[in-house]
Amino acid sequence: MGLLADSLSRVKPSATIAVTNKAAELKRAGRDVIGLGAGEPDFDTPENIKEAAIAAIRSGKTKYTAVDGIPELKDAIVEKFRRENELDYKTSQISVGTGGKQILYNALVATLNPGDEVIVPAPYWVSYPDMVLLGGGEPVAVETTGETGYKMTAAALEAAITPRTKWLVLNSPSNPSGAAYTRSELAEIGAVLAKHPHVWVMTDDMYEHLVYDDFEFTTIAQVCPELYDRTLTVNGVSKAYAMTGWRIGYAGGPEQLIKAMAKIQSQSTSNPCSISQWAAVEALTGPQGFIAENNIVFKQRRDLVVSMLNQASGIQCPNPEGAFYVFPSCAGTIGRTAPSGKTLATDEDFVTELLEQEGVAVVQGSAFGTGPNFRISYATATEALETACERIQRFCGSLK
Ligand SMILES: Cc1ncc(COP(=O)(O)O)c(C=O)c1O
Repeated sequence: MGLLADSLSRVKPSATIAVTNKAAELKRAGRDVIGLGAGEPDFDTPENIKEAAIAAIRSGKTKYTAVDGIPELKDAIVEKFRRENELDYKTSQISVGTGGKQILYNALVATLNPGDEVIVPAPYWVSYPDMVLLGGGEPVAVETTGETGYKMTAAALEAAITPRTKWLVLNSPSNPSGAAYTRSELAEIGAVLAKHPHVWVMTDDMYEHLVYDDFEFTTIAQVCPELYDRTLTVNGVSKAYAMTGWRIGYAGGPEQLIKAMAKIQSQSTSNPCSISQWAAVEALTGPQGFIAENNIVFKQRRDLVVSMLNQASGIQCPNPEGAFYVFPSCAGTIGRTAPSGKTLATDEDFVTELLEQEGVAVVQGSAFGTGPNFRISYATATEALETACERIQRFCGSLK
C-alpha cells in the first residue's frame, strides 16, 4: 500500500506558485527578473489595522476563540454586507475562516458527494477545480472568449447545467481575467439559475473593492433576491485591505450550510488567528479611504499595461473592469520562433521563453483553463511594470 491518498493524484500543485519559484531561482542566480506572477497587493497593511492587532495582543486576545469567528467580527461582517451589498444576514449566517480559501474549501467539502458537478467558468482561479476534486466532486469548466471579455454567457451556463450540478462558482472581478459582471449580466445568469432550483451559487467576491472607471460592483444574491436561500457570498480582507498574510476570509449564507462549514473547521483548524480577527474588525469598521486612493494607482497601472500590451506584436488584451490582473491572448505569437530557436507551440512555451529571454515572469493562461493566454498581475511598482511591458514588446518583436 502506498503512502499517499488516491485523491491526491487528482490534484496538481499551483502553477502560479511554480512560476514564482522559477523567477526566484533566476533572481538568486543573479538575473534581472521582474515578477508579475504574484496575486497580492504591493501596498502595506494600513497602520490602523496593524495597531488594532498590536492592541489585541497587548490586551490578551491571544486565546482560542469561537470556531467560526468572534461575535464582534461577525457583527462587523453583518454590517458590511448590509452597508455595501444590500444583503441581510444574521450572525448565525456568517462564517469566518483562515482566508477565503478555507471558506471555499469548507463549503465544497461540506456539500459535495462523489460525482457532483461544479460549474467553473474558465479562465478560473487555479484552486477551484482542485478543491472540487479534493472534495470528491467533478469540476465542469465553461469556456469563455475574449469577445465577451472572458465572461460566461447565460446560454453557456444553461448548456452546462445537468441534474448532477451542485454549484456554480462565480468570481467577479475575476482572477485571472479581471472581468467583472454588470448588474444586468448577473440578472441574466440569475434567470437561468431560477429555472434550476437544485443549483447553488458560490460567489467569490474577493476583489469587490478593486473596480475602476465607475464600475458598479454588485453580487448575485443582491441582484437576484430569489437566489438568496441558495447562495454563499464569499469575501475577505486579503485583497481590499492588503492583508494577504493575516488569513481572514468570511461568508454569508444559509444557516444549514454555515453550520456544516463550522463542523468541518471545528475538526480541522478550529478558529482563525485571534489577533487577525481583531485586525479584521478594524479593517471592516475603520476608515475606508485608502481603498479609493489605491484604486487610483491600480487603474493607472491597468491602463498603462493594457495599452502597452496591445502595442506588442501578436498580443490582444481586453480592458478588464477590476482586480489587478490582465489576461491577454498570445494567439498571434503561436507558431513563431524565438531567437533561441524555440518555436512557440503553447502559451507555456511563450511564458518560458519570455522568462528566459527577457526576465519577465508571467503565468500561462492554460493554468487557468484558457489559452493561449497569459496572466499579468499589475500589483507591482509602476516603473517595473513599464519596463516589463517594454520587454514583452521587444520579445514579441523578436519572434520570427
Ligand atoms: C479569486 C480568489 N479567491 C480567493 C482567494 C483566496 O484569498 P484568501 O485566502 O487570501 O482570502 C484568492 C487569492 O488569490 C483569489 O484570487
